[in-house]
Amino acid sequence: MNREFGAETLVELERICARYPRREAALLPAMRLLEREFGCVDEPGMILVAKLLGVSPAHAYGVLTFYTHFRRSSDAKVLLQVCSTLPCALKGSESLYDHLKKITAGEPAITLKKVECLANCDRAPCLQVNEEYIDNATPEMCDQLVAQIRAGRWTPPGQIYSVPPNTHQPVLLRHVLEAGSETMEHYLARGGYKTAEEIVKSGRNPDEVVETVFKSGLRGRGGAGFPTGQKWKFLAKNDKPRYLVVNADESEPGTFKDKLLIDRDPHQLIEGIIIAAYAIRSKTCYIYIRGEFGIGAWILQKAVDEAYEKGFLGRKVFGTASEIDVTVHRGGGAYICGEETGLLSSLEGKRGNPKIKPPFPAVEGLFRSPTIVNNVETIATLPHILKNGVEWFRKMGTEKSPGPKIFSVCGHVHRPGNYEVPLGIPIKELIYDLAGGVRGGKKLKAVIPGGLSAPVFAADEVDNGYVKVDAATKAESRVPITMDFESIAGAGSMLGSGGVIVMDEETCMVDALWNTLRFYAHESCGQCTPCREGTGWIAKLAGRMERGGGRDDEIALLDEVAANMCGRTICVLADAAAMPARSFVKKFRAEFEAHARAKKCPYKHGHAPKPEPAGVGSH
Ligand code: FES
Repeated sequence: MNREFGAETLVELERICARYPRREAALLPAMRLLEREFGCVDEPGMILVAKLLGVSPAHAYGVLTFYTHFRRSSDAKVLLQVCSTLPCALKGSESLYDHLKKITAGEPAITLKKVECLANCDRAPCLQVNEEYIDNATPEMCDQLVAQIRAGRWTPPGQIYSVPPNTHQPVLLRHVLEAGSETMEHYLARGGYKTAEEIVKSGRNPDEVVETVFKSGLRGRGGAGFPTGQKWKFLAKNDKPRYLVVNADESEPGTFKDKLLIDRDPHQLIEGIIIAAYAIRSKTCYIYIRGEFGIGAWILQKAVDEAYEKGFLGRKVFGTASEIDVTVHRGGGAYICGEETGLLSSLEGKRGNPKIKPPFPAVEGLFRSPTIVNNVETIATLPHILKNGVEWFRKMGTEKSPGPKIFSVCGHVHRPGNYEVPLGIPIKELIYDLAGGVRGGKKLKAVIPGGLSAPVFAADEVDNGYVKVDAATKAESRVPITMDFESIAGAGSMLGSGGVIVMDEETCMVDALWNTLRFYAHESCGQCTPCREGTGWIAKLAGRMERGGGRDDEIALLDEVAANMCGRTICVLADAAAMPARSFVKKFRAEFEAHARAKKCPYKHGHAPKPEPAGVGSH
């Protein structure tokens, strides 16, 4: 069977291709067109887009098979995806999946799939039905859902957005719950686009804008915490085009702040883009958005279209000679595309393989041109800094970690959600006061403070501070942990993306680690041996321990293998798996030993024997 696009789709594809300097960069968007037209990306469809984009079918196949989000068959009308990553697993997603498996058995209209974090961890356990989210799913909701799908009358319930009560004055989240906050009218009515307009129309020297951001001390909000202004200053000065890339591939489990900003306040982000592009003298911006954010991509595209209509984007920005084109580019489902060089590979129409640095993207990035990659929250902060000034920004937070920051809090807390607070607030205040403490009157056992890849804190460290040893006197003291880059690093972890995962006293830490390591084994791109083999190896060791087959000596082996993965790979995915593994073993060793001794999980909820994880190293 051959596939052919109709005339209108061919015109649309050409329009898409025109947004990139190379046709092959349109490969992922072209696969989305295949899904829309034929319900899937199958072999004939792949051959069609390969021909249309001038790449070999082998290349197209290599790219397609890197990503997990494309439908490969059009047989089932409904794709039901159950998130299986740690925050959802802590809320019972495994038993929910087992229940769904039972009630959908033999149902041709439904394809049931386990997937990784959908960036909706405060609404765990979470499902996705085609593009739609189902929050706080229960077996009863699943029964109802499946019955409605069978009857052909399922309608999406619509996503719940909430920002829990917050004692601090939010900046980026101030308007997200207001009706219509995602519209141009709403944004203009609250003075939106005025700051960007003033900067562009005044013809201010772009270097002044860079200097303001540099002086503000704004640090990247995506994970690494690198100073934004400093990164901008690293841009190579040559005659190549400069690119601005917004990293909206929010996929660090436990993090769900960028999704909220995109869904509920996209114009705040677009105003930030105009300012950033002006500052770095870029005429082209790509927003790389997660494949799973189908609705977010639609909302963002609508907002971009509105900004073009108003003349805020395009050839004559605010009626001046400034130019800025913005393209929303949807990914295909791969965690590693959150890593900036993996993201750039993906944006070029290739497998999302990270690249060796240097050269850093600021020198040689997208299409081998100087490129700045900034996270959504970082860019959305810019209009506020430029409007209110450096002093206003620096009044919040700490000397080295200034400003407000959104922390996503999930797991076993009373009030999971996004909290925008000044950097440097005590971790205890965030967990016990703002998020309401551990639910169900239980005690705290552990906290992962910066997304799944951050080393874990034991409850004692959260409650009483970490132990600091004076290098000279060897005297020990307790230092309270605060939510800023320095304090969390001093305590042996990292602030990362600000995703805080809270675990109560009944959590089995071996099971939690097994879940964590399955994620990284699944998401390894497979380029580097220590990562490809190591992530799978430590996942198997943790899994065997949890299932009752682990030995005492394998605890040290797990730690040793993890230690040997650190710092030996192109990107930090291997470290992202190894660091939590080592911290879990170090801080909860007694639990690993109890598993080895008992030859089973000794926790009261127990665990039936589980099969080996599938999909290890699937990329
Ligand atoms: Fe399930 Fe994040 S949405 S873990």
